[in-house]
Amino acid sequence: MSSRQSVDAAMALREEDMERILWTDVEISARVSELAEEMSEVLRDSEAAVVFVGIATGSFMFLADVARRITIPIAVDLVRVESYGLGTESGGAPRLTTDLKIDVRGKHVVLVEDIVDTGNTLFWLIAHMKSKGASSVSVCTFLDKPSRRKVIPEPFGEGRFYRGFECPDNFVVGYGMDFAELYRNLPYIGVLKKEKYQL
Ligand code: PRP
Repeated sequence: MSSRQSVDAAMALREEDMERILWTDVEISARVSELAEEMSEVLRDSEAAVVFVGIATGSFMFLADVARRITIPIAVDLVRVESYGLGTESGGAPRLTTDLKIDVRGKHVVLVEDIVDTGNTLFWLIAHMKSKGASSVSVCTFLDKPSRRKVIPEPFGEGRFYRGFECPDNFVVGYGMDFAELYRNLPYIGVLKKEKYQL
């Protein structure tokens, strides 16, 4: 099986569970390339070292795709923040369960997210990066649901806010995003049928 055939087979995986597909792997790839090009240009002249910080678990696929398309030297680290548990609604205050390995003091941090919903996770993490002495903090999220915002996660210092797509207020899965830890490996982003999570 060719690699394209195997991606096509993965595209078909769990499609019967989707109400509709919002972005295919091809559309995702094109947008990731644009974001990486834009960030590389902006950060090329940064005097501070650049650290991309993925927020586990949801950002893993986007982080891997965007990092390999960045054309300037970067360090990569991960943090783990939990807020949703196994349901579909945010549980309130985020809980940091794995902190940075890299010292970000004096560095430019780019927080990489799969999706911004209420904004709680990023709001908290931006403050956390500031408290660790980052010189600036940018946000790079693949999806953004501004209709759900409760707090505004403002970039810090010279940081900017990058986003792939604005997402409608539906429960979406795939490309790193889950329901009860399933669907993360789908190469597309789809709206999950209600009967799949409203039992
Ligand atoms: C999701 C997503 C973001 C966060 C966004 O993570 O990956 O980190 O929720 O929501 P907010 O803007 O309302 O804070 P989740 O807690 O589901 O964990 P996961 O990354 O392991 O899926």
